[in-house]
Amino acid sequence: MTTTRTAQELWALGDYDRVAALIADQGRALVAAAQVGPGMRVLDVGAGSGYAALPAAATGAEVVATDVAPELMEIGKQHARDRGLTLRWQVADAEKLPFADGEFDAVLSCIGAMFAPDQSAAARELLRVCRPGGTVTMANWMPDGAVGRFFRLVSRYHPASGDGPPPIAWGDPEHATALLHGAEVRTEPRRVQIDFSGPPDALAAHYLRYFPPLVATVADLDSTRAAEFERELVEFFTDLDTGPVGGPPSYAYEYLLVSARLPARTAVRRAPARPPAAAR
Ligand SMILES: C[S@@+](CC[C@H](N)C(=O)[O-])C[C@H]1O[C@@H](n2cnc3c(N)ncnc32)[C@H](O)[C@@H]1O
Repeated sequence: MTTTRTAQELWALGDYDRVAALIADQGRALVAAAQVGPGMRVLDVGAGSGYAALPAAATGAEVVATDVAPELMEIGKQHARDRGLTLRWQVADAEKLPFADGEFDAVLSCIGAMFAPDQSAAARELLRVCRPGGTVTMANWMPDGAVGRFFRLVSRYHPASGDGPPPIAWGDPEHATALLHGAEVRTEPRRVQIDFSGPPDALAAHYLRYFPPLVATVADLDSTRAAEFERELVEFFTDLDTGPVGGPPSYAYEYLLVSARLPARTAVRRAPARPPAAAR
């Protein structure tokens, strides 16, 4: 039986920060791709515990980190204190951002806004709060990459409740470009190395313990199905390991970097108060 959970309830399960820490390079790469720098007004949507927001703030940008899960943002606040960084944290849904039109120079979302169920609403909001000429930069898992296979495995045991395209559709270049229509969109497949040197069964155990969608899946399965799921998950991470035989394991995920530049505001031409002299 699949329990219906709000996004806030789901992402408060387990401890996503322990998973995010394994792929911290992704947030840093996103901040570099968005060319975030001192004095820029930056919004991170679906910021979690801040793996993009914190490196953005470290550049000297003024950062607002938003998410539906306050529990994760509390962990992010502690990371910020530990690193001596100042940023603002605010609960907000990607589908309805509590900000004015054009308030930010750069809008970031590191595998965050892709999880909002109404993808068109989330895309509209990302674009709306970005200033003319500014950028929306996203990292989205790809449907034909390892994370796409991972989510298909999870959905065999724990079918998604909503209709509409799944989150992973945001990792398809055509789909992302269509959602962000009106902006000049570029996409680029990238990889992030998983910072985990243990064997596949240890990585599976880490995900089962900490990754919210897996904690929810196992909670909703009976013990026989849960054991089958755990076995398949170990197989998944075994296939993902590309390390040398007898050597240390090596795991990586593919994602789509999406960079969308909004059109610059076109100068409004004012009608002259009086016709030019030559015309009189
Ligand atoms: C995979 S985590 C990524 C977190 C963070 N960006 C990172 O890179 O570590 C997905 C995040 O999206 C958030 N999220 C899910 N649905 C959301 C929504 N509708 N609006 C805002 N955030 C949402 C979750 O709470 C979670 O923190």
